[in-house]
Amino acid sequence: MRLHGRSALITGAGSGIGRATAELFASEGASVAILDRDASAAGAAASAISATGAEAHPVVADVSQPDEISAAVDRSAQLLGRLDIVYNNAGVGSTGSVQDTTEEDWDRCFAVNVKGTYLTSRAAIPHLEAAGGGSIINQASVAALVGIRGFAAYCAAKGAVVSLTRAMAIDLAPTGIRVNVLCPGTVYTPLMEPLMRERGGGSIERGLEITAAKYPIGRIGTPMEIANAALFLASDDAGFVTGAAFTVDGGMTAQ
Ligand SMILES: NC(=O)c1ccc[n+]([C@@H]2O[C@H](COP(=O)([O-])OP(=O)(O)OC[C@H]3O[C@@H](n4cnc5c(N)ncnc54)[C@H](O)[C@@H]3O)[C@@H](O)[C@H]2O)c1
Repeated sequence: MRLHGRSALITGAGSGIGRATAELFASEGASVAILDRDASAAGAAASAISATGAEAHPVVADVSQPDEISAAVDRSAQLLGRLDIVYNNAGVGSTGSVQDTTEEDWDRCFAVNVKGTYLTSRAAIPHLEAAGGGSIINQASVAALVGIRGFAAYCAAKGAVVSLTRAMAIDLAPTGIRVNVLCPGTVYTPLMEPLMRERGGGSIERGLEITAAKYPIGRIGTPMEIANAALFLASDDAGFVTGAAFTVDGGMTAQ
């Protein structure tokens, strides 16, 4: 029970990595707010966690909308009674080189991945300070660390999330709030379906095989393997860890 008595807000927790993390945090004793723009996904995740006896609340908001996310963070803190942990996990993909990326795609990618992280953190910091400190975990990607063909906006946005994390860690260190960023390699979730289909020439299975071959350990990751890294960063085990970019990628960026 490494998060016993803690309260955690996880964005994008209706699916994939965010949902796995909400389940893991709850099983480690945390009360969780499941924030997602998809109301039915947030509701389903919260119901599944509540059925285990843990406390979970669905909260619906788009992290890129300032008023919406600010109200949703305040509501989460109110429902949970306090806020100790924030996982800025909500994100969207974007494919294409600079020539192929439309301005709309570029803006959407930055609005959710970068501005959403800023807006959610801005709203959450007063609650974390009121709790005497805490842990913010941002979600980047290996795309922040190496160039990936046909992912210009996504690489740029995730790189910005890593830089933002370092700046936040310095600014917030005196308050007792630690800020770190995860850089996961490929994990099969709904986000990855279009890419896997394209890479596999129409076959998701073939796309997954091609992708796995890029990983030194011979496979892609699971949502729970990223959740386990988030658990470490959220817990007191990471008490001396702030400003770190934590790669969880089966050796992909070590090559
Ligand atoms: N899957 C991977 O291989 C992988 C690798 C590295 C990083 N990531 C990052 O991990 C995070 C989660 O990805 P996933 O694969 O679990 O994706 P996913 O699509 O399974 O889940 C993302 C969730 O975020 C929600 N969401 C999207 N935009 C939102 C918004 N504006 N406001 C609120 N909620 C929003 C979606 O409704 C969805 O429930 C993303 O930031 C992604 O970039 C994923």
